Amino acid sequence: MQNILVLGGATGLLGQAIVEKIISKKNWQVKTLGRTDGNIFDPQFLEKFIIREKPDIIFNTVAWTQVDDAEEHYAEALKVNADFPEAIAKIIKKSDCHLIHFSTDFVFDGHSNRSYVEDDKPNPESVYGTTKLAGEKILLNLIPEQVTICRTAWLFGPHRKNFIATICQVARKSGKLKVVADQIGSPTYTKDLAEYSIQLAAEKKTGIWHTVNSDQASWYDLASFAIKAANIECEITPITSADWPQKAKRPPFSVLNTAKLADFLGQKVRPWQEAVELYAKEKSL
Ligand SMILES: NC(=O)c1ccc[n+]([C@@H]2O[C@H](COP(=O)([O-])OP(=O)(O)OC[C@H]3O[C@@H](n4cnc5c(N)ncnc54)[C@H](OP(=O)(O)O)[C@@H]3O)[C@@H](O)[C@H]2O)c1
Repeated sequence: MQNILVLGGATGLLGQAIVEKIISKKNWQVKTLGRTDGNIFDPQFLEKFIIREKPDIIFNTVAWTQVDDAEEHYAEALKVNADFPEAIAKIIKKSDCHLIHFSTDFVFDGHSNRSYVEDDKPNPESVYGTTKLAGEKILLNLIPEQVTICRTAWLFGPHRKNFIATICQVARKSGKLKVVADQIGSPTYTKDLAEYSIQLAAEKKTGIWHTVNSDQASWYDLASFAIKAANIECEITPITSADWPQKAKRPPFSVLNTAKLADFLGQKVRPWQEAVELYAKEKSL
């Protein structure tokens, strides 16, 4: 029996998808830990819990994910995105427990002319990206043989508000949309990411992995495709990032290369278009 602990598994967009997948797996049992269980940032509380539950694998989906808010809350974002993983690492360092930790395409500046591979040099240009990169570095330094870093991007899925659900809601209501077309990334279905990360966990793979759906899209491409998949009539206009100012700087091109992941899975990684169609069907968008 594999004992699994999913931090953030009761409420997070990704955390809930991971828990759902693990429940359906034979010989894996899962517990969650989050805000309502106590102060997870108190190292003594966290250590007591981990020692009591003796997880074989921990999935850490807890993160400060509000990219724009992070610009004005550096210390708080650092606490969640770097100090917290550090506390986990210190607790499990002398055990056999393996950690699956999630990071982001925002560790890159987005000025590449090809998709990013795992070894490419990060250069975050936002507080969110900076604090997530700090978390990565701490883990790779403290527990290199016990950690898998899954870098992911542009998540959508059934469990919580996300770009596609919001776009479809607005499209239905107003019949008109303007969406940014000059930021290109890797849209990713939480159910696929849950599956990939569980497979990496089962083999206790170490190091950095780009775990996203394959192919690339702009937010405009993604919105247009999702609206079609959901059968919504809507006029959609491409705009530039300059037309839609946001506090945090976004990478203009942060597509993550999936060759390493495909090699591990032994099959092609599902393209985001297929994943959006599945999501639209399952969620009845
Ligand atoms: N969403 C994306 O598009 C995206 C893109 C790239 C990378 N990622 C990475 O993927 C991972 C999962 O992201 P997600 O979208 O699933 O995140 P999410 O839905 O925002 O969930 C984050 C989790 O962290 C918990 N959390 C945050 N602050 C907390 C605090 N102060 N105290 C206790 N719990 C706290 C949340 O609990 P509550 O529900 O109680 O707030 C929630 O369970 C993260 O590492 C993120 O950086 C996400």
